[in-house]
Amino acid sequence: MSAQSGILAPLPSLARYLCFDLQQGEAAAALKRFEGVELGDAVIGFGAAFLLAAGAQIPGMRPFVRLPESQVALPHTPSSLWVWLRGEDRGDLVHATRRWQELAGEGFVLTSVVDAFVHRDSRDLSGYVDGTENPTGADAERHGIVDEGALAGSSFVAVQHWRHDFAALEAMSQEQRDNSIGRRISDNEELEDAPESAHVKRTAQEDFEPEAFVVRRSMPWADPSGAGLHFVAFGRSLDAFDAQLRRMSGAEDGIVDAVFRFTRPESGATFWCPPMKGAGLDLRAAMS
Ligand code: HEM
Repeated sequence: MSAQSGILAPLPSLARYLCFDLQQGEAAAALKRFEGVELGDAVIGFGAAFLLAAGAQIPGMRPFVRLPESQVALPHTPSSLWVWLRGEDRGDLVHATRRWQELAGEGFVLTSVVDAFVHRDSRDLSGYVDGTENPTGADAERHGIVDEGALAGSSFVAVQHWRHDFAALEAMSQEQRDNSIGRRISDNEELEDAPESAHVKRTAQEDFEPEAFVVRRSMPWADPSGAGLHFVAFGRSLDAFDAQLRRMSGAEDGIVDAVFRFTRPESGATFWCPPMKGAGLDLRAAMS
């Protein structure tokens, strides 16, 4: 049993994130249609409410975390099906979108499309390199993919669409910006004296108990309404993401992550990404 190959692969130059909701028909039958489906370069996941409606019991799968103590708004926007189309050519992504609409078939409605891209050497649109402390190789596999039991080869993903306020960012001095991330933009070095609100201090993966490693595969997005970061974090469970967001939101100690000074999440959803058997999706864990 192996994982969907796009999860651990390097970021493509272009991507499209699709969300579908099952608005008609029986969830169990709708889920069954995906058994054995060939993904190509795409990564797909199913939402908690949809899986529940389909009678699938996936241990560890749960809706996007609720943090009543959060000092900032963290929207919840669940979906039945999430598809991350990966590519190098916009036309191919348009055709892949059509293919997935057909594949999803009867009852599924395409509710959102986000066009994303890699910016320079993998920078967020704030200008900072994103992904430096991502686990790689065997570590990425260990932290990103379930390695044993009935769910072996699965992954769980948390997705948030963040919109940047570029006027707010540009009103900050270079020092304030560096302090908000906790790294120097000029050489990407971590700041030793960064404030407690610095993003990399809030999310330092070794500083959690237990350690909270995720495999981030976020990409910048842009459309006529604005631009920002489509945040995507895979994990062998949702625990690490939940712990990081809790600390970022101020729910733990009242200190809000300084990235909130120039960006806000507009969505929040979690998905279970089933394993593969050969070239096809393996849904046995969801159908037993
Ligand atoms: C628009 C929102 C965000 C921006 C612009 C952003 C940007 C960055 C940047 C520039 C870094 C430093 C380089 C790196 O190690 O990748 C970083 C690190 C990191 N971010 Fe974010 N991030 C955002 C949201 C989030 C969220 C929502 C989470 C998780 C809940 C998260 C988790 C992490 C983690 C785990 C690290 C590495 C920390 C470490 O171990 O040093 N980020 N992020």
